[in-house]
Amino acid sequence: DSAVELDRVAELVRSVPDYPQPGVLFRDITPVLADGEAFATVATEIAARTGEADVVVGVEARGFLLGAAVALVAGVGTVPVRKAGKLPAVAASRTYDLEYGTATLELPAGVVEPGTRVYVVDDVLATGGTAAAACALLTDAGAEIVGFGTLLELTALDGRAKLDGVRVDALLSG
Ligand code: PRP
Repeated sequence: DSAVELDRVAELVRSVPDYPQPGVLFRDITPVLADGEAFATVATEIAARTGEADVVVGVEARGFLLGAAVALVAGVGTVPVRKAGKLPAVAASRTYDLEYGTATLELPAGVVEPGTRVYVVDDVLATGGTAAAACALLTDAGAEIVGFGTLLELTALDGRAKLDGVRVDALLSG
């Protein structure tokens, strides 16, 4: 059953101490993606939560891998929200604080019309800065955010507090 499968997925998440800087315990989902059964379970479970979304938005970089798989299972397209400087045509950008430093996210031009129902996917919800910036970009573009789905929510960091009004679906918490 799916609870047992998610236990197995949880065992595949790797914790890397002091990355990318001392004091940060980095959660690496690479082994989950590398396991076909675990990857399929995660994509299927998140896709089941996308509801009426027209498109799945994946956040760079591991959110691309997860988001594309979720979109394919859900039968919708996918749109990347990228780190600054990667897109040929940018609709909007937003700078946010990370657990370590700052970063800027950009929404590609011409793919999210006002009224588009979007479901946002990333691998991990930590402080919530990344997810909040992605959601703000989409809201500013006139999109309707159906929800935010993630493999792992680090509940101690209370990232969901930054996602006021957005439903958060987390398969695992830790
Ligand atoms: C990680 C993770 C999320 C974000 C979560 O990405 O993939 O996108 O951090 O942290 P937050 O909730 O505190 O904002 P990272 O910054 O490592 O970028 P990458 O996926 O491009 O490697």
